[in-house]
Amino acid sequence: MPTGASPAGVRPGDEAAAAKSIREMFGRVAPRYDLLNRLLSARIDVYWRNRLVDSIRDILARPDARVLDVCCGTGDVALALERERNKSGAARRPVLASDFCRPMLDGARKKLHSYGSPLFEGDAMRLPLPDASVDALTVAFGFRNLANYRKGLQEFHRLLAPGGRLAILEFSQPTVPLLGPLFDLYFRYVLPPIGNAVSGSGGAYSYLQKSVERFYSAEELAAEMRSVGFDMVSFRRLTGGISCLHVGSKA
Ligand SMILES: C[S@@+](CC[C@H](N)C(=O)[O-])C[C@H]1O[C@@H](n2cnc3c(N)ncnc32)[C@H](O)[C@@H]1O
Repeated sequence: MPTGASPAGVRPGDEAAAAKSIREMFGRVAPRYDLLNRLLSARIDVYWRNRLVDSIRDILARPDARVLDVCCGTGDVALALERERNKSGAARRPVLASDFCRPMLDGARKKLHSYGSPLFEGDAMRLPLPDASVDALTVAFGFRNLANYRKGLQEFHRLLAPGGRLAILEFSQPTVPLLGPLFDLYFRYVLPPIGNAVSGSGGAYSYLQKSVERFYSAEELAAEMRSVGFDMVSFRRLTGGISCLHVGSKA
């Protein structure tokens, strides 16, 4: 059952400490983050992020739509959103992007400078934006790291304007027979040593495997989204359920 608790079952008083250690870990990984993503996912991550973009394509087509990518990391989602938004060549509002890890944001700044996307530092559970200030909010592979899932969802709900849409892309549990055990072997025994060695982070990619293992099932995350007030909640498993795209609207 969803509890709203953090990946590690962190108590509320420990949330700040958990967030600090996650932020520091991503700070260590940042210089090699993009390289490792492409290497360890064989570029499937690019396909997944494009499906995330698809899920808000209608909103992106509105030139005045306010779009925010949370936990933006080195900016791959924000870049894909900007590319989609700029296809028509018409004037449009730039995509906003935020993360609480400065070295990751530095990577995003380099990627996005030609689009003028405003980037800002902030914890996804308390963003410095007014209520109902965005029409679409995306988060890719960041939600699982929040110290309190329910608080994160409540914050996303607060930030969305009525009619706005939330899209969360996250790792999930494979549902295709045989893929589950194979993926488990890869995630336990292949990915951590390569990721830890190449990133030089001494444990970040072991954390990745553990955080995915203890994350919500797709059904649980959908239930938690409904319980904080999201409407029209649905999910789509990608690549046999290795990742999952969740979408919900604010009434
Ligand atoms: C796995 S990376 C994903 C980055 C990017 N969205 C992507 O698709 O590549 C997770 C990101 O979430 C950020 N993050 C984790 N917890 C956060 C929080 N509570 N507030 C803001 N950012 C957070 C990390 O700093 C990191 O950049």
